[in-house]
Amino acid sequence: MQGKKIIVGISGGIAAYKSAEMVRLLVKEGCSVQAVMTASAMSFVAPLTFSTLTGRPVYHDLFAERQASTVHIDLARWPDLVIVAPATANFIAKVAHGLADDLLSTVLLAVRLEECPIILAPAMNTAMFHNWAVKENLALLRRRGYILADPASGELACGEVGEGRMLEPEQLLALIVRTFGPGDYAGETVLVTAGPTREALDPVRYLSNHSSGRMGYALARAASQRGARVILISGPTSLEPPPDVEFYPVTTAREMFALALKFFPDVDIVIKAAAVADYRPELQAEQKIKKGEALELKLVRNPDILEELGKRKEKQFLVGFAAETAELLTHAREKMERKNLDLVVANDVTREGAGFNTETNIVQLLYRDGGVEEFPLMSKLELAHQLLDRIKVCRRG
Ligand code: CTP
Repeated sequence: MQGKKIIVGISGGIAAYKSAEMVRLLVKEGCSVQAVMTASAMSFVAPLTFSTLTGRPVYHDLFAERQASTVHIDLARWPDLVIVAPATANFIAKVAHGLADDLLSTVLLAVRLEECPIILAPAMNTAMFHNWAVKENLALLRRRGYILADPASGELACGEVGEGRMLEPEQLLALIVRTFGPGDYAGETVLVTAGPTREALDPVRYLSNHSSGRMGYALARAASQRGARVILISGPTSLEPPPDVEFYPVTTAREMFALALKFFPDVDIVIKAAAVADYRPELQAEQKIKKGEALELKLVRNPDILEELGKRKEKQFLVGFAAETAELLTHAREKMERKNLDLVVANDVTREGAGFNTETNIVQLLYRDGGVEEFPLMSKLELAHQLLDRIKVCRRG
């Protein structure tokens, strides 16, 4: 997505607030975004919101004095993709019938559809969405090659529940990514594990660790954006699973183990970002444990999931993580050998900007041939893409 030029058109619906988040995600992906608003959109969200997020002035006036009279043509020639979100019933009708009475509708008329995909994300009340005029306008646009982000069912701003709710920003982002092409991971199946596991002591207490799941979720999102089928097995986190991934929430190490074994024969790549609890209480009390003078816990070993996958490995490429607080490379190298891994992502979790609960990470990659590559501090999503780049090179051999 880096460097892609995208016009985001906003027409006048309450879902305009969601477009702000979509724009933020696009900018985070490295896209250049130009917002174009209708007059009614500006009644819902101020242009300042979009100009701040995009770093560019918002266009909304066809005849503004301080801009070229051909601004609609200049804008129409610029993007690699146009998305209108939300697209109201009125705006959809204008596009379907070639009306051009404001800047956004005029830009849409001037974009060459065969060179630049146009996505419309309808958002309206259910009755309006099922109105024949709207249905036929949408069908007409679909036939002409516009891409429609079919709205979801759900609670609407008017209080009704039904179809007409604009897709969520993450889902729109996923659609935009897909529109640009199949991606370099098309045809691959990637299994990602993420987050901590929890091992119960009694019905109210458990043993766990500080893993937030962010690195694993970023990897799942990145692989999915690049066209892979992604299976995400995750321990408990506060994160939303990325769209378009097959999501399996689990609690304990043994649940994660069972699912990982089940999917293993069908996957091409395993990325084990989860921080799996190595031990669990030998006994799990059925009732809440009452306090006494002291409590002795006996812990027993959990299965080492990655080690087991390493033993069963055939075609699969195995990536492990090694989160350490000392002697990083020595421990990471030992894990690579013991677990039969192809690549190890090692990080010293005591460093600022690395490890648990941060948006960023600082890692070193250990290759099978003994090579070590150091990465500077970067966002977990950026790091996820870099790791996928390296995995591709390693697998090519
Ligand atoms: N791992 C696993 N199953 C476990 C423990 C770890 O699959 N029971 C995986 C992790 O997902 C990670 C890698 O093994 O990809 C290394 O995990 P880590 O906790 O750093 O290492 P351990 O093997 O548990 O060794 P130690 O705790 O002694 O550092």
